[in-house]
Amino acid sequence: MSTAALPGEPDSHAIAIAAERRWAWVVIAIMALLVVMMIFTGLHWSAMPPSRVETVDVKTLHLKGEFVESNLGTSVGADGKVTVRLIAQQYSFQPQCIVVPAGVPVTFRGTSTDTIHGFVVGTTNANTMVIPGFVATFTTTFPKSGEHLMPCHEYCGTGHEAMWARVQVLPRDEFVALARRSPRISCVAR
Ligand code: CUA
Repeated sequence: MSTAALPGEPDSHAIAIAAERRWAWVVIAIMALLVVMMIFTGLHWSAMPPSRVETVDVKTLHLKGEFVESNLGTSVGADGKVTVRLIAQQYSFQPQCIVVPAGVPVTFRGTSTDTIHGFVVGTTNANTMVIPGFVATFTTTFPKSGEHLMPCHEYCGTGHEAMWARVQVLPRDEFVALARRSPRISCVAR
């Protein structure tokens, strides 16, 4: 309901509509800015959106298939591709210490045996959630050698803050020498 403005008095209804319209444009501008930021950071930091869904049976994970204990760690395929296989569980990663080469694409494949975990490798873009029943996978390249901490970053219970692993990035030659000696590489003492 609007009452007609008296002569010389501002039309309050027209002012309200103008204010609404101004706010609508401000909100549209904010949304557009956020979308542009998402696209920019996605491209600039090579963020990796989930590409597909791959499932795995949690109940038989330890007994057969890709994630049996003897198959965990880093391996070099016949085609020269480097793959890291790992398991997350309350409250540790298996293996506890992961070895990867510098300057070579490395594919991580991981899953969880109990609840939702996640991990990020130091300040790199290697970052994923690990969900029971699903295989989390991504490929990344570590530009230089060094050691990174790899903490769990999804709250998974009382031991969450103590759940972390280490990632050793070795110079390529050193990694190749290790890979010649053992089909599965990790820096965990056996
Ligand atoms: Cu696992 Cu937090």
